[in-house]
Amino acid sequence: MKQPIKGFSKLSKAAKLEWLVNNNFKDANDARSIFTAYWHEDKALQKRHDEFIENTMSNYYMPYGVAPNFQINGKLYTIPMAIEESSVVAAAAKSAAFWMARGGFKTSVLGTQKIGHVHFMYSSDASALKEDFSSLEQQLRDATAELTANMEARGGGITSIRLVDATDRLDDYYQLEVIFETCDSMGANFINSNLEEMAKSLEKFAQNHERLDANALEVVMRILSNYTPNCIVRASVSCPVEELASEGVSAEEFARKFKQAIAIANAEPYRATTHNKGIMNGIDAVIIATGNDFRAVEAACHTHAARSGRYKSLTGCDVEDGVFTFWIEIPLSLGVVGGLTKLHPLVVKSLEMLGNPNAEELMGIVAVSGLAQNFAALRALVTTGIQKGHMKMHLMNILTQLEATPEEKIHVANYFKDKVPHHREVVNYFCELRGIPVPKVGR
Ligand code: MEV
Repeated sequence: MKQPIKGFSKLSKAAKLEWLVNNNFKDANDARSIFTAYWHEDKALQKRHDEFIENTMSNYYMPYGVAPNFQINGKLYTIPMAIEESSVVAAAAKSAAFWMARGGFKTSVLGTQKIGHVHFMYSSDASALKEDFSSLEQQLRDATAELTANMEARGGGITSIRLVDATDRLDDYYQLEVIFETCDSMGANFINSNLEEMAKSLEKFAQNHERLDANALEVVMRILSNYTPNCIVRASVSCPVEELASEGVSAEEFARKFKQAIAIANAEPYRATTHNKGIMNGIDAVIIATGNDFRAVEAACHTHAARSGRYKSLTGCDVEDGVFTFWIEIPLSLGVVGGLTKLHPLVVKSLEMLGNPNAEELMGIVAVSGLAQNFAALRALVTTGIQKGHMKMHLMNILTQLEATPEEKIHVANYFKDKVPHHREVVNYFCELRGIPVPKVGR
């Protein structure tokens, strides 16, 4: 049975690795060799990665691909994508080429506000808090003046502070709701530092106010919200319907079925979840490649998708007067300074590849990546079906698993050129080619 270990984080990397391989694997030598195989030979670079998190044992490699030919607001981009799913980069590149021939993508940022809260309980009469809010606000602003000075110099800072009475949702529950502009940074540290300072100031205010009972006030949490409905970007494409003929399907039928596909996602959360997952394939890949926080963006997008009370599509589509328009509108809180942006060499290169965009430009690029991915998925779904393209990309993974030689890979790929390469059929064909017995199903 496994034994717990005390003080693990204090051990050296080598000692941690020894404990790990000796206590968690049947074959310690094999485990050690895998973990160390991924260490970077440049010791300084490896040290930098080690320091991103605690207890780093190895590096987890993901493919880093690029999708060229994205025309966005008249400018050409090559988009970096870090993702393991085989068909995502190919889908992005296909959509990019399709829309480049039809005027490209347009984007606009509809808002850049971030939001955070001091969540607190007040179990007494809060009328003085409400009536004297303007002096509390002044005190909160004074308390954070030093913290916000730099951000203000860059054009950001605290936009507004509001007292929210949330007692209709939870007994005694109030918030200080604070809106921030964080310019080119995602702003999490900035926002949380300000909120922590504000919480202290709120407590002081209650202590010094003759009509407030400091003992009735309890600050529970001070934290940004990852839901940023006012930090939002729109990306769209549009073209005459007649330019949409695709994979043997007429332009009119394509437009009609495409629109129905979105209507179905809006009507059916089971479909909306997969529909939006496909969008996040594109979004997360760029977010990871540019060193941003994909969990924050995922959380915000899904909340946004459910804002009406039902989980719906993040994209929309319209066909009017013979023009097909397809768009996405999503909350994206991104940074091009701070975080990993200067620390991870590949992130630096991703940003350089994109022309070192500011945060707003990056919001547009990421939204386009999501839209392009959804276009590719729906295009395949309403025409040939998804498996043709998907399995084609997956074919190489299956062959790698079968330890096929490069020659065998070419041969099998040729055979499946005009067929859907279902896993079983690939295995059967490969075994026949090698003259080896076909493994039983399930092995
Ligand atoms: C696969 O990763 C994503 C899709 O399932 C998205 C969709 O169904 O819209 C293809």
